[in-house]
Amino acid sequence: MLSPMTANLVFWSGALVNLALVCVLALRGVQLARQQEFPRHRRQMFAVSGLVLFFLVSYVVKLAFLGKEDLTVWSPSDVLWLRIHETCVGVMLVAGATALVLGRRFARTQLVDPDSEAPPPPARLCRLHRVVGRIAVFGAVSGFATAAVVLAGMFARA
Ligand code: HEM
Repeated sequence: MLSPMTANLVFWSGALVNLALVCVLALRGVQLARQQEFPRHRRQMFAVSGLVLFFLVSYVVKLAFLGKEDLTVWSPSDVLWLRIHETCVGVMLVAGATALVLGRRFARTQLVDPDSEAPPPPARLCRLHRVVGRIAVFGAVSGFATAAVVLAGMFARA
């Protein structure tokens, strides 16, 4: 039987691997959009969203069984890194959900479905999707970098 401290470290190490995968797949998804491969971009971003959803569900399960971290034993600088990390993840979630909702409006246009007869989406919508999409990917990558710092602190305290 794992101690709660070890179980926490196992959970957060797995979450870091998950976030690394999110970053790699999302960066590839951006590359696909730049190559005008929009149906593949769409599938790629759905896979990324699935991984993010998996993390959120596993986090709720973790909270139920292991509870929250005891921040009273963390140094002020470790807590600050945690807050910066949470902000990055928050940005990723809000911007990513917005990109996903806006992206759904492209699904039946010729950009994504060549057989569609619907007119192309307005340029303003494309621009907005591009901006929030890039913010989401930036949130994921900075969320990964700061998660590595937070996890290193957790191992150092263990
Ligand atoms: C969380 C999900 C998504 C993210 C983070 C995302 C991100 C991005 C980014 C960063 C770009 C701009 C690439 C560049 O030129 O630098 C882009 C373009 C695009 N994406 Fe997504 N995307 C997502 C979901 C979707 C979905 C679901 C669809 C289709 C149903 C879609 C369709 C498109 C299209 C058509 C463009 C090109 C828009 C244009 O003409 O500028 N995306 N996306």
